[in-house]
Amino acid sequence: MSKEIVAMLTGTGHAVPERVLTNRQLAEMVDTSDEWIRTRTGIVERHIADDNKGTSDYAALAAKEALEEANLAPEELDLILLGTVTPDMYFPSAACFLQNKIGAVNAAALDISAACSGFLYGLTLAEGMIAAGKYKNILVIGAELLSRVTDWTDRATCVLFGDGAGAAVLQPSDGERGIIGSYIKSDGRLWQLLNMPGGGSLLPPAKAAEDPAPFHIKMEGREVFRHAVTLMGESAVHVMKAAGITGEDLDLFIPHQANLRIIQAIAKRLNIPDKKVYVNLDKYGNTSAASIPIALNEARKNGRIKPGNLILTAAFGAGFTWSSVLFRM
Ligand code: UT7
Repeated sequence: MSKEIVAMLTGTGHAVPERVLTNRQLAEMVDTSDEWIRTRTGIVERHIADDNKGTSDYAALAAKEALEEANLAPEELDLILLGTVTPDMYFPSAACFLQNKIGAVNAAALDISAACSGFLYGLTLAEGMIAAGKYKNILVIGAELLSRVTDWTDRATCVLFGDGAGAAVLQPSDGERGIIGSYIKSDGRLWQLLNMPGGGSLLPPAKAAEDPAPFHIKMEGREVFRHAVTLMGESAVHVMKAAGITGEDLDLFIPHQANLRIIQAIAKRLNIPDKKVYVNLDKYGNTSAASIPIALNEARKNGRIKPGNLILTAAFGAGFTWSSVLFRM
């Protein structure tokens, strides 16, 4: 671990909507069963946002918790990076809405569109900004209301996703704790396997009245599954090798929470024992960019992560994008 550690996480937070949608309730909506969803994905229930709330509402709750723990006033933030593919509006960014909600009047704010990898992309960019001496206090968030773009008649996708937000404050390191290694990558050739065709400049919202079908998530599940295992594994190996560690050195592995079978396959590949793998998708489903920061905060608050622990994270999402970040808490 020779690389200088420049940025550390000084606070984390998360928020999920109160409303819970169980597998049994879904089985009343589409042709599925609790048994199928549990055995194929590991998901038992997920949280669904209130109709009158936007992504930035949950992001703001997560941000406030993270700022409080970091003992940082919102006015002290220099930069806000918000990973999301379900912003409040086409524009301005959800990060600007969040900035307004928490009163971070001195920050620059922008969204990162990297789907499920959005939070780890954010951490990586924030670390670079701190290393460059450009900013000191950065809020990184992953927040998503995928329920808004879910086709509730498509059993192949509607059982998978949930809503939520997670946040972390990144500040200059004390030299001991912080980000040891990070890796981000994408491959736009594979965009067709996971996307939402409508809503952008190619198929603008005005076209939704003609045909609403493209305004929902489309996914080739099996192909996405295959690539997720390979590419999340590849990114995790990359950061572990660069840091000169193996799976056995880790205290906890927090993978993107998309499917329990994906998580188990990666953990096996990386030689990480089950007890060192954090899983909470049973409660939240796949919350895209929010899944890792929700799990991170939850694991800290329930004692699975202790100060000084070595944590590996890895994500994979539409684009494709994939990423891994290794840090000492
Ligand atoms: O976060 C971004 C990344 N996203 C992911 O990582 C998701 C990756 N993919 C997956 O997690 C899995 O591919 C799924 C959970 C989406 C699907 O699991 P699978 O084991 O790959 O199932 P499948 O798509 O091969 O479908 C198997 C069968 C099919 O029926 P037949 O053709 O064998 O008769 C489907 O029609 O299961 C059927 N099926 C369902 N049955 C009951 C598909 N969805 C459902 C459902 N309930 N909800």
